[in-house]
Amino acid sequence: MAILLPGGAGFIGSHTAVELLNAGKEVVIVDNFSNSKKEVLDKIKKITGKDFKFYELNYLDREKLEKVFEENKIDAVLNFAGYKAVGESVQKPLEYYHNNITGCLILLETMKKYNVKKFIFSSSATVYGEPERIPLTEDCKTGGTTNPYGTSKLFIEQILKDLYKSDNTWDICILRYFNPVGAHESGLIGEEPQGIPNNLMPYVARVAAGTLKELSVFGNDYDTPDGTGVRDYIHVVDLAKGHVCALNKLDKENQGLFIYNLGTGKGYSVLDMVKAFEKATGKKVPYKIAPRREGDIATCYADPKKAKDELGWVATKTLDDMCKDSWNYIIKSSSNKK
Ligand code: UD1
Repeated sequence: MAILLPGGAGFIGSHTAVELLNAGKEVVIVDNFSNSKKEVLDKIKKITGKDFKFYELNYLDREKLEKVFEENKIDAVLNFAGYKAVGESVQKPLEYYHNNITGCLILLETMKKYNVKKFIFSSSATVYGEPERIPLTEDCKTGGTTNPYGTSKLFIEQILKDLYKSDNTWDICILRYFNPVGAHESGLIGEEPQGIPNNLMPYVARVAAGTLKELSVFGNDYDTPDGTGVRDYIHVVDLAKGHVCALNKLDKENQGLFIYNLGTGKGYSVLDMVKAFEKATGKKVPYKIAPRREGDIATCYADPKKAKDELGWVATKTLDDMCKDSWNYIIKSSSNKK
């Protein structure tokens, strides 16, 4: 039985494919490379020494997707095929809702048709909007998202809850990611944002590499220890392992809808991140203080206890690992381009 990964060549999908293969699972990847590269597939094979099936297709293409279900014995689906750039989602709401929501609906309908009912969804801490309390527990109120990307996550969570209510033979796990950063320790796979990165860590890495001049710190007047925004940064490999634990839970549990925060439970400020990156890499990260970014909140970090208790999962990588591995990936990928 195979695990299907739409978007499996992307940042989180590729790291999860590695962990699934390392755990001895059979993997089928579907991707159209809209935000990833073909080479990633060989790199996953190189890291794991294992092979897997791959289909180049858009998961919105129902006919082609059905063929994948016909040709493989799919046991579970982990959906990584969502668009994720917050700013772009504001400019292109229809494209975002279409890709993220229609795509997910087509996937779920196809699963239903082929009687595949185990689904793991990549959600985000963004669904909590302005946090009701810190640290965030899974029962905190959701809503109040400030962009179509975040709203698409919220809508899909609701769709999954309604689906489960209508048919409790589904086995669904919603994983709310905090701030995924870092890269595989091999330096072979990592995050490859197109154009100028929006997220902090890839931006910092490019400033350290000299590709970008300086970091703009968006606000230093928040109610936080140093005035800059505090987030729960989580190493992508820890995050990927969380999916393997979630899958094991669904295998064991047989039917249910579960929601877990995947975070470390620790909050770091923007300036903490700059310092940690400088220390880990020996590079300077020049920065200036800029106005607050619209839609940002002061503090957001997880209470990861539920995932620990029920999945046996904890994040083990340190902030230093996150910075070193991000940097290692930048160095390796730029030397490969030369
Ligand atoms: C953002 C998204 C969130 C999404 C997540 C994916 C927003 C409002 N939220 O989270 O929906 O799930 O990315 O990883 O965009 N910062 C700077 N300078 C920069 C970039 C960021 O100071 O150039 C600061 C931000 O103000 C924030 C922190 O760094 O305090 C983290 O920002 P970022 O990496 O963009 O993540 P989030 O905003 O937490």
